[in-house]
Amino acid sequence: MRILVTGVNGQIGSALSSRLAKVATVVAADRAALDLTRPEELPQRLDGLSPDLIVNPAAYTAVDRAEDERELAFLVNAEAPGVLARWAAARGVPLVHFSTDYVFDGRGSRPWNETDSASPLSVYGASKLAGEIAVRAAGGPHLIIRTSWVYAAFGGNFLRTIMRLAEERQELRIVADQVGAPTSTAIIAEAVAAMVAQAADLAAAFADADGLVHLAASETTSWHGFATAIVDGLRARGVSLSVERLVPIASAEYPMKAPRPLNSRFDLSRLSQAFSIVPPSWIDGLNAELDRVVETVGAAR
Ligand SMILES: NC(=O)c1ccc[n+]([C@@H]2O[C@H](COP(=O)([O-])OP(=O)(O)OC[C@H]3O[C@@H](n4cnc5c(N)ncnc54)[C@H](OP(=O)(O)O)[C@@H]3O)[C@@H](O)[C@H]2O)c1
Repeated sequence: MRILVTGVNGQIGSALSSRLAKVATVVAADRAALDLTRPEELPQRLDGLSPDLIVNPAAYTAVDRAEDERELAFLVNAEAPGVLARWAAARGVPLVHFSTDYVFDGRGSRPWNETDSASPLSVYGASKLAGEIAVRAAGGPHLIIRTSWVYAAFGGNFLRTIMRLAEERQELRIVADQVGAPTSTAIIAEAVAAMVAQAADLAAAFADADGLVHLAASETTSWHGFATAIVDGLRARGVSLSVERLVPIASAEYPMKAPRPLNSRFDLSRLSQAFSIVPPSWIDGLNAELDRVVETVGAAR
């Protein structure tokens, strides 16, 4: 099977392309191979790449900048996925497309399930929701995977930011009223590989899930809880840090251009019912990433 993975230099794309390479032939596409700001060129590019399955984590992910770049966000996150999905639908090629907890407004504290109505607070969230609608409208075999709070041992993400700040500063003020599941790219890549490996008929498996599934680590915390676990986990592994206090603050005390949902809890029942996948807890996922961080730091010394 030839699996086309887009956005291979991104967090999820890079984890997916190395993990899927163990079960299939991966065609790794970066921005030069498939530029989502040029949707008109995509069908010809896809003809040349000739995939049996498309996995599309590529996206415009600059959440705050999207407030000023609405057109670009919608082009990359909605129009281009629509083109990918129509190309795939016309050929019966299954498409896995990534979306986000930011399609929800974050009200209440109940975990969101796939039948809840989406109501994004930000341009980024609206552009991702428009992408979901475009993928569904194409009518081909598809699975939209909504995930949340993505990080990895490497790259630009919350774990790496907290690690750097905890080395530099004595006090960190961290938002404590947003709740969700920090999800490592390893957890996501493992789940997608399991879906691909187990299903004799991907289109049927995706249809069983009604084309949409929530995928995140099990259990939830706040950004403050996540940061505390990062600092504790690094210290437990012998990393020396300057930070003395992690002060919990409200979102209102850390204003961002794009509002974030307060409740990003996901109901993961469809993931277990349709795919028999129960992801590890976020703390287990974090421990695995911290081991990787420390191994590399140790190796560099
Ligand atoms: N990060 C999160 O916390 C989070 C949470 C929920 C859902 N998601 C979703 O998960 C998916 C992957 O997220 P991520 O964290 O892996 O994002 P990321 O690290 O920002 O990677 C995005 C990738 O998309 C590529 N890309 C951006 N614009 C492009 C364009 N015009 N043409 C082709 N490629 C383009 C980037 O290419 P370059 O490397 O060239 O810039 C990059 O490789 C996205 O759909 C995102 O909405 C992310």
